[in-house]
Amino acid sequence: MYLYHFGLGELPFSLTPNTNFYLPMTMHDEALAVLSTALQTGEGFIKVVGEVGTGKTLLCRKLLNEIPAHFVTAYIPNPYLNPDELRRAVAVELGVKQAQRMSLQLLTQRIQTRLLELHSQGHSVVLILDEAQALPEDSLEALRLFTNLETETRKLLQVVLFAQPELDKRLAKTEFRQLRQRITFAYKLRAMNASEVQQYIHHRLQVAGYKGVELFSARICQKIAQVSQGIPRLVNILCHKMLMLAYGEGHYKMTVKLLKAAVKDTESIERSSKINLLAFSLLGLFIALLLTYYTLVVK
Ligand SMILES: Nc1ncnc2c1ncn2[C@@H]1O[C@H](COP(=O)(O)OP(=O)(O)OP(=O)(O)O)[C@@H](O)[C@H]1O
Ligand SMILES: [Mg+2]
Repeated sequence: MYLYHFGLGELPFSLTPNTNFYLPMTMHDEALAVLSTALQTGEGFIKVVGEVGTGKTLLCRKLLNEIPAHFVTAYIPNPYLNPDELRRAVAVELGVKQAQRMSLQLLTQRIQTRLLELHSQGHSVVLILDEAQALPEDSLEALRLFTNLETETRKLLQVVLFAQPELDKRLAKTEFRQLRQRITFAYKLRAMNASEVQQYIHHRLQVAGYKGVELFSARICQKIAQVSQGIPRLVNILCHKMLMLAYGEGHYKMTVKLLKAAVKDTESIERSSKINLLAFSLLGLFIALLLTYYTLVVK
């Protein structure tokens, strides 16, 4: 690999959402602030939505690492679970013994007892679901029923949903209006702008131990921002490939040629840049036709 070539301690653009590489960008910091405020209020549901690869799992891990000690968390990374499986998964996370074996009715009782127990010990319980767009419809309803459990003054369980925008489309259906109303705090992650992409690239290189001269110039970063549309995962893929290609050729500086080769090697980006190109060409053709019509017919 290229680690030695560039004097790096580890891979700077790995796809794993490793919190050591976290760059406190405005959108992610804002999302964490919303989560922190919402959790303090103790109200039902909190939702963080973002396109594929915008950093939801990374935020999820940050939240799990940094949540104050009086919170007890139940973390479900892959919620493609029916209501029964979901209940059992929550019970296991909350430390209910033999949760996999007991009847559903007993399980529901035990969850409630455990929640009350934790509450009486001064804990707040948060259920955190990543990939929440994958929740089956009846499991979404089961979740809502979970948050019905409350004392006179406080919910016994809060739910944080991290999801791709498909979740919003599903929640827009009439049958989810009750759940929709329970979502008291929501945050939508956006893509990075060009200057954030530049900061992001430099930050990841630095964390990986890079100490040499600038590898990615401002101009190259701007181009990477364009083709990746500011999506962190796509930036990682492109930068990793560029470093590999440069290493293969024995170079140090990142060039437009290397970026083009990396794009060509990345199916999802190549397809979307071809679609963009096609859209631009069609728009150009349409404007040209309109101008011709105006000059020939209207004048
Ligand atoms: N603020 C950030 N600082 C450092 N790295 C980041 C940041 N945001 C995103 N990344 C990186 O971008 C990549 C994609 O992030 P992540 O896997 O969290 O996306 P996701 O939104 O969960 O994607 P998916 O919708 O596919 O589940 C990871 O390598 C992650 O470390
Ligand atoms: Mg994810």
